[in-house]
Amino acid sequence: MKTSIWIILLYLLSISLYAEDGHNLWLHDKGSVRVNVVCKKSSPTLNIAVDELQQGWQGKDGATIVLEIRKDKAIKSDGFEINSNGIKANTELGILYGVYELLRRQQTGEPIEEMISNPSYAIRILNHWDNPDGTIERGYAGHSIFWRLGETALVVTDADKMLWHEYARANASVGINGSVLNNVNASPLMLSKEYLQRVKAIADIFRPYGIKVYLSVKFSSPTLISGLKTSDPLNPEVIKWWQEKVKEIYSIIPDFGGFLVKANSEGMPGPQDFGRTHAEGANMIAAALKPYGGIVMWRAFVYSPSDQDRARQAYNEFVPLDGKFLDNVIIQSKNGPIDFQPREPFSPLFGAMKKTSVAPELQITQEYLGQSIHLVFLAPMWEECLQSETYQEGAGSTVAHCTDGSIYLQKFTVIAGVSNIGLDVNWCGHVFAQANWYAFGRLAWNNSIKSEQIADEWLRLTFSPDTPKHGVTALSDDWTGHFLLPVKQMMLESREAAVNYMMPLGLHHIFAADHHYGPGPWWAPKGMRHDWTPPYYHKADTNGIGFDRTSEGSNAVNQYHEPLASKFSDLKTCPEIYLLWFHHLPWDYKMQSGRTLWEEICYHYESGLNQVREFQKIWDMVEPYVDHERFVAVQSKLRNQCRDAQIWKDACLLYFQQFSRRPIPYDIERPVYDLNYLIDEDMKRYR
Ligand code: GCU
Repeated sequence: MKTSIWIILLYLLSISLYAEDGHNLWLHDKGSVRVNVVCKKSSPTLNIAVDELQQGWQGKDGATIVLEIRKDKAIKSDGFEINSNGIKANTELGILYGVYELLRRQQTGEPIEEMISNPSYAIRILNHWDNPDGTIERGYAGHSIFWRLGETALVVTDADKMLWHEYARANASVGINGSVLNNVNASPLMLSKEYLQRVKAIADIFRPYGIKVYLSVKFSSPTLISGLKTSDPLNPEVIKWWQEKVKEIYSIIPDFGGFLVKANSEGMPGPQDFGRTHAEGANMIAAALKPYGGIVMWRAFVYSPSDQDRARQAYNEFVPLDGKFLDNVIIQSKNGPIDFQPREPFSPLFGAMKKTSVAPELQITQEYLGQSIHLVFLAPMWEECLQSETYQEGAGSTVAHCTDGSIYLQKFTVIAGVSNIGLDVNWCGHVFAQANWYAFGRLAWNNSIKSEQIADEWLRLTFSPDTPKHGVTALSDDWTGHFLLPVKQMMLESREAAVNYMMPLGLHHIFAADHHYGPGPWWAPKGMRHDWTPPYYHKADTNGIGFDRTSEGSNAVNQYHEPLASKFSDLKTCPEIYLLWFHHLPWDYKMQSGRTLWEEICYHYESGLNQVREFQKIWDMVEPYVDHERFVAVQSKLRNQCRDAQIWKDACLLYFQQFSRRPIPYDIERPVYDLNYLIDEDMKRYR
């Protein structure tokens, strides 16, 4: 055989030997040195803790580490202490979390000092929007890891068990301790005997990792499953039905976590169908769960096609009910008042309900942020929300503190993230989407941690300076300078880039209908619910653009506590990032930069596109530091992202230009797509 063929074969072999498909997430096997672990007790959870230490120890060779369960008041719930002897905790799970923290610090080179770490939220939970047929609502990483269609749908295979085990380990490694296994648009099937058996099998695998299972339930289940004439929450038969169903569930899964309920929202049934309130509905189910320690997470994502501004509706429905919920009901509210947009101000519900547990719901799956194509690191967005001042109890009453129990007495503190996990070999469909799963866990554990730290940790754990190089020569051995720092910078900028090329300056919900991927500011078919069409949100006309939510308009500003209401109302103080969220302004309104509003909009779209072009360059430059497989996967996704950013820019500028009737500033690159072409392509889906 010719030498060149041998070289090619060897090259291919080296690639396949090092094939890095991303399945290991941030939990790479980094090799270990000897460690002597002392742990008096043995249990499934403690055995995992010991194994993890033995397999991942990178500290002093032959060191002795003591794992000790001892009550200590400074340690809360499943928190832990790392000290010079080892790890101390009140619970077995606390020990396991301490082990993961210690190993993470060893692997990332973070100093290991004496420390106590307590979780910000008691319940740190993933919400899977998985359907019993295996599809996932807003899932972009393949089908469900829990459910599938077909004759073998309910058979628990070894492959299932292996995957659930890996999933549980990954979650535990970042402190996640709960999973809702099915879609909030819930199928009643989930409560059937057969499905509950599969839930039990999942729970059995999760248990040693401290992960409880929860289910989404449909409010009309008594009628749908057992043919009851009503599902009215005050009807004695309905009450009994839920009590019995809950009893049955706990007899199968004794540590079952509870229910998540989407009621009277987007066509889902709820207590209002029977003239009852959200409190009456939630309390009825909560009462059934209470004897077993279960909880109800009741979603505040409610809006109806009324004349009332959609952004006001959750607050209007829920705040008057404050104080009326049982203490095992948690009101779960999306971070913003509308719907997981690239940027929204925080939901005014946070801090306004003072006698009720309120949980932030974040969306890890990138429904509105480029799905599994765009590289968008979400920690900065979540940090922005959690650190927002609500002023409900003066300065310092941030969204984080209003929800984590540090201001209001809440029996349960919860934070939820809508999962981005599927059967894709790399779990999330995009290597960098794994960072969002990781970030959710880290923020749920510590809601004041900075995005920069999360990105740094994740990169160090996920990529490695020892990556074999294929063909492209590294600039130097300086992994930190040539890989870590530029890629971290790219991650940290990526969310702002997406805001810039999708909907800057407070614009929101101008997505194409249904799939929520590309632009669709024009989309408004006759007869369609107006709050499901982009023109409802941008309100562009020849006079200007933006949604007036001041007292002259919908007055949504007055749901914010002072000084925020005044700050958002006043053009002099309203942050420009929220300008068109709160104001309808003329196209030649003067911005802080001295440009007109129209020009500023143009520059934002242009800069978003340019940012993605920069990301492409950064990624190309780090090729020598990344394994081949992940390098090409991300490179190809960035190309798509760049094309999409161009489409976003062209679509939005050309569409809005019809109203602004002003030129696109001449130092900005001209659009490359025709507006009619983009509209036609979008509309084809509806013909
Ligand atoms: C969004 C999303 C839906 C989802 C809903 C919810 O509207 O597009 O798919 O069901 O949020 O959070 O309930």
